[in-house]
Amino acid sequence: MDQDDPGEAMAELQERHLGGLGILEVAAGTGLFAYTFWAGFLMPGFRRVPLKLQVPYVPSSRQQVENVLSLLRDRSGKMVDLGSGDGRIVLAAYRQGLYPVVGYELNPWLLRLSRFYAWRAGCARKVSYQKEDLWKVNLADCKNITVFLAPSVLPLLETKLLAELPNEARVVSGRFPLPNWEPIATVGEGLDKVWAYDIGLIRQNMEMRETTFLQGTPV
Ligand SMILES: C[S@@+](CC[C@H](N)C(=O)[O-])C[C@H]1O[C@@H](n2cnc3c(N)ncnc32)[C@H](O)[C@@H]1O
Repeated sequence: MDQDDPGEAMAELQERHLGGLGILEVAAGTGLFAYTFWAGFLMPGFRRVPLKLQVPYVPSSRQQVENVLSLLRDRSGKMVDLGSGDGRIVLAAYRQGLYPVVGYELNPWLLRLSRFYAWRAGCARKVSYQKEDLWKVNLADCKNITVFLAPSVLPLLETKLLAELPNEARVVSGRFPLPNWEPIATVGEGLDKVWAYDIGLIRQNMEMRETTFLQGTPV
């Protein structure tokens, strides 16, 4: 075979059977491609976040956004979306009258997109999108929190929210409920369903359960 002739080289490659090493090479190539796509496009900015806490981007549906906002109607005080994606919930919350509104997001592409949408809507100076790890921001001054995260991270999120939020805070979770809390309201069905939790009530319920448990414990 003429090594310099690409046509011949290709023909030889097509005739060759894929041996064990070939399969390994294809697998490694595919893996590398998948990783590059994951790290470069889906999860850039997540290098410092432990793998088990990495939640990929899936946007809320239009109905889901409406449901979230219906559970924040007539509320006031600071609102944050933890993992704000393309910023749709933050923008809608501002339009509903919440202020200040902040989205925390690590993916720089999504942050750019959020800022573009806010600019296009004439709200560039009204809403804020910050490149922050949601696990590291302090939520002590937040009265309204929205989340749409994977079920696997929600138990840890409950712990963080309980440790930091004031009693007046309300948490609205989209698509997946917080696993150990009793909601005060739910809206929607299926993928659009959302759950609301009032932190003061969650704490009260926990205290009551602890007291009942202690009273039932023989001394
Ligand atoms: C399921 S999407 C929800 C996006 C948006 N909240 C919505 O409802 O359309 C979850 C988002 O959280 C972001 N995210 C995941 N982990 C994060 C972290 N540790 N800090 C900041 N953002 C995070 C992801 O990049 C993704 O955009």
